Amino acid sequence: MGERSAAPGGPPDGRLPRHVAIIMDGNGRWARSRGLPRLAGHRAGTTALKRTIEACIELGIPYLTIYAFSTENWKRPAHEVRGLMFLLEEVIDRQLDELVEGGVRIRHVGWLEQVPNHVQRAIGRAVERSAGGDRLTLCLAFNYGGRAEIVRAVQAIVREGLPPEAIDEALIDQHLQTRGIPDPDLIIRTSGEMRLSNFLLWQAAYAEIYSTPTLWPDFDREALLAALASYAKRDRRFGEVDGGPSAGGRLTPAASPGRG
Ligand code: FPP
Repeated sequence: MGERSAAPGGPPDGRLPRHVAIIMDGNGRWARSRGLPRLAGHRAGTTALKRTIEACIELGIPYLTIYAFSTENWKRPAHEVRGLMFLLEEVIDRQLDELVEGGVRIRHVGWLEQVPNHVQRAIGRAVERSAGGDRLTLCLAFNYGGRAEIVRAVQAIVREGLPPEAIDEALIDQHLQTRGIPDPDLIIRTSGEMRLSNFLLWQAAYAEIYSTPTLWPDFDREALLAALASYAKRDRRFGEVDGGPSAGGRLTPAASPGRG
């Protein structure tokens, strides 16, 4: 990833991640602390999401992935699951025109099989109508799980009858839901938790991880800038030592730095 000049209001030294991925956590706690139902927290989370999308566009970050519903989230109470499904449809209906006008291209990562038809249609509409967006690719991880993604990739490769020697990292990349999308440079998790929770397990190999105590509904431009400023200070070595490969001679093959 190369250096680039800072956008106005951007992180201090202007080194921006190309791909930010966010685990939007803390909606329930945000709601509980206000005596509100959990869904009110998720609804407030949609406003934080809108702010974040706008900030990414303005800063010139070309890829944003959001963990909106995991394969494990089906274990939540039925009314919360239903509420999240309707909320996604509502957000798409309400925001799609604006997102398309803003140059946002929506990609879905995850599986639609178990998702209610009305939500499948809404996601399909969002993906289709936004296909021409060229400012920000918004990857909506919805009914997504990293382990399931790897299992399905392996299944697809086996089905293709490829010999073991043909299997390398690039081939696995091509069989993931995220094919064509660079690996995340920065993964942000809100609400102080420090887990990946099955999010982009393969793709996160070299991601910088940033955890903030801010609950997702309170996440704003300032909170994003704080994450970006922390990222800008990180020393990303991709398995090498300071000074790169020439610093001391190399005895073993270099690890692939992955995509991005
Ligand atoms: C985690 O917070 C959040 C989710 C499982 C859902 C994230 C959804 C949004 C931010 C709304 C936008 C998404 C859609 C569907 C458009 P939590 O409920 O686990 O919070 P807690 O840990 O405080 O209980």
